[in-house]
Amino acid sequence: MSAPGSFVVVEGPEGSGKSTLVRGLALRMAAAGREPVVVREPGGTSVAESVRTALLEADHAVSPVAELFLFLAARADLTAQVIRPALTAGRVVLADRFTLSSEIYQVVGRGLDRALVMAGNAAATGGLQPEITLVLDLPPGVGRRRQEAAGKALDRLDRESSAFHDRICDAYVAVTGPGMVHLDATLSAEPLLEAAWHAVVDRRPDLWRKS
Ligand SMILES: Nc1ncnc2c1ncn2[C@@H]1O[C@H](COP(=O)(O)OP(=O)(O)OP(=O)(O)O)[C@@H](O)[C@H]1O
Ligand SMILES: [Mg+2]
Repeated sequence: MSAPGSFVVVEGPEGSGKSTLVRGLALRMAAAGREPVVVREPGGTSVAESVRTALLEADHAVSPVAELFLFLAARADLTAQVIRPALTAGRVVLADRFTLSSEIYQVVGRGLDRALVMAGNAAATGGLQPEITLVLDLPPGVGRRRQEAAGKALDRLDRESSAFHDRICDAYVAVTGPGMVHLDATLSAEPLLEAAWHAVVDRRPDLWRKS
């Protein structure tokens, strides 16, 4: 289902620079005339933030199917309560992760059936698709080293094996689909932001005021 606003998603493996890029893009967007609604997954509503705590901060075992449904529950709530209303109001929504994360982590990482995850995503979002998904490509190991250098407190998923994270990195590099644009996340933050901004403007030149 389409909506009048524009939905931009940033995706990529752990430590690939998603949150840094989202902050930079939000400033560019505001400077070009449209302050975005910024969201991160999982999270963004009180229910989704509770799910985030259960999924990321807690040190308990979660079965792959339970994990999928928790991510989907958070996504459904965020989509219904924040993303769709913002798009309907004509806003630009800028998201740190969305459905592609489940396709990568739950299918490639956990080994769940692709059809199950795709159906779950469709149910959670009502079929909402990003207009553009910026995919940050990074070789295995680089993101972990960045997180370590920054002293990040590793969450439950960060603490998965290096084999798990290597599969995730490879899957992001290989993924293709409507609206997906791959960016070289080995670039430093400023040229990466430049490349991302060009991709966003190229997709919808009508939206942005020229500086
Ligand atoms: N383009 C870049 N080049 C080098 N280092 C970067 C770049 N972008 C971000 N960093 C640094 O790498 C670390 C991870 O960046 P960031 O938190 O933006 O990544 P992330 O993908 O959001 O990570 P997470 O998966 O933990 O949420 C931070 O210390 C950040 O300052
Ligand atoms: Mg982040």
